[in-house]
Amino acid sequence: MFKFLKFIKTYPGILYSLFLIIFIPLVFYLVTLFSVNAFQKNINSVLQTKAILAENIINVFTPGLLSQPNILERKIEQITKENPEIKKLRFIKQENGEFKIIASQDPKEIGAFISDPSLAISWSQGQATAKKIKINGTRFWRVDKPIFDPQTGKKIGIVSLALSLEQSDLLITRLIHISYAIVIIANVLILFLILQHTRLFSYVALYKKLQEVDRMKDEFIRMATHELRSPIINIRGYIEVLSEKIEPSLDEEEKEYLRRIDISAKNLGNLIDDILQVSRIQQGRLDITPKRIQPETVIKEVIKELELKAQKKGLKLVFQPREEPLYIMANPNRLREIIFNLVNNAIKYTPKGWVKIETQADKIRKKYHISVVDTGIGISAQAQTKLFQKFYRVRTRETADIPGTGLGLWISKELCQKMGGQIFLESMEGKGSKFTLIFPLAS
Ligand SMILES: Nc1ncnc2c1ncn2[C@@H]1O[C@H](COP(=O)(O)OP(=O)(O)OP(=O)(O)O)[C@@H](O)[C@H]1O
Ligand SMILES: [Mg+2]
Repeated sequence: MFKFLKFIKTYPGILYSLFLIIFIPLVFYLVTLFSVNAFQKNINSVLQTKAILAENIINVFTPGLLSQPNILERKIEQITKENPEIKKLRFIKQENGEFKIIASQDPKEIGAFISDPSLAISWSQGQATAKKIKINGTRFWRVDKPIFDPQTGKKIGIVSLALSLEQSDLLITRLIHISYAIVIIANVLILFLILQHTRLFSYVALYKKLQEVDRMKDEFIRMATHELRSPIINIRGYIEVLSEKIEPSLDEEEKEYLRRIDISAKNLGNLIDDILQVSRIQQGRLDITPKRIQPETVIKEVIKELELKAQKKGLKLVFQPREEPLYIMANPNRLREIIFNLVNNAIKYTPKGWVKIETQADKIRKKYHISVVDTGIGISAQAQTKLFQKFYRVRTRETADIPGTGLGLWISKELCQKMGGQIFLESMEGKGSKFTLIFPLAS
């Protein structure tokens, strides 16, 4: 019992299923049974009344004819033709305490004596008796009524008729069948509903499990990347020391090897940093509290960091503020990461020309725009639709040799949106791209 209660507590939906399975069909069944019963009772009393009524009518003309069986037989023929539900019509006389059939629908039984308690009751009581009987599987309302001599008031015979219940029984059976069909259909529907419902239960359980697995995966990535970070920092540090110490003694080929080791270690470090950042965003472990800041300061910091990289590629890195310095609401560290990603991409995907950072204030809408524009390879319309997805990279001949993980833009978009900002892209293949950030202006 305790186990059962515990089970219900864990899966309260089971109660709903039980309710559907047991209660609703039961209600259906009882309502049907009740209606059919009531209907049957009504029909029975109507037929009983009809049988008595028929007997009364027949009784009226009979007393004078009891001594003329031939006329009685013709009367019987006429009556049963007009009332096909009358299946047995007999005229009976009492002779020395016994009952003798003097006219009948069935000519073979004329003259026969019958002993029937209901005839005796009807005779002794002097009034009609009605009862339900069954002959060869068919049910009848049988009514026996004494016939009185109108002059003397004496009992002179009995009229006995049986009214078939075949039609009403047929109707009721059909009704019961229809009701059962409805109950079965309803039960099938309910069963279907329950199946759907249990499937929903399992989906909910699966969803919970998936959420747990997802959380474990994030936790694992966080731990793993954290552990990977320190060895990479060590490797890069020692490469630097090694380069300084032995570079003069190396030939060109050996110098190239050292350079490649350094690039690979750097790329690995970037990848780990990106993955760590993704996991921090997904677990909500990143501080994104917006502050009132001057975006120009952040932009200038990023330019300082990436100036050399642009210079090495022969690109001009320009900052063109259009307005006097203004304040926006954003977290400075996160904003630096976003702008760094965008400017870094612009340098990475621009073979020649320039990379420009523009700012513009929309004082009416109280918005501040920061755009990173380049004269690079551009992005096709098709690629633009997937660009902000995790791990998406455009795969063309131009991008084949450029290292990257496809996380930078996803991180930028997430950070931007979490701080209440927006990010937009306009680009034309072969011409260049323009990424625009929009943040609320601080008052
Ligand atoms: N300014 C740009 N010009 C042309 N293509 C771009 C530009 N910025 C991004 N892309 C395309 O969008 C893709 C996704 O950029 P994203 O910054 O997310 O990843 P990534 O630069 O490849 O790797 P990383 O995670 O190291 O930043 C890039 O691979 C590149 O194909
Ligand atoms: Mg990038």
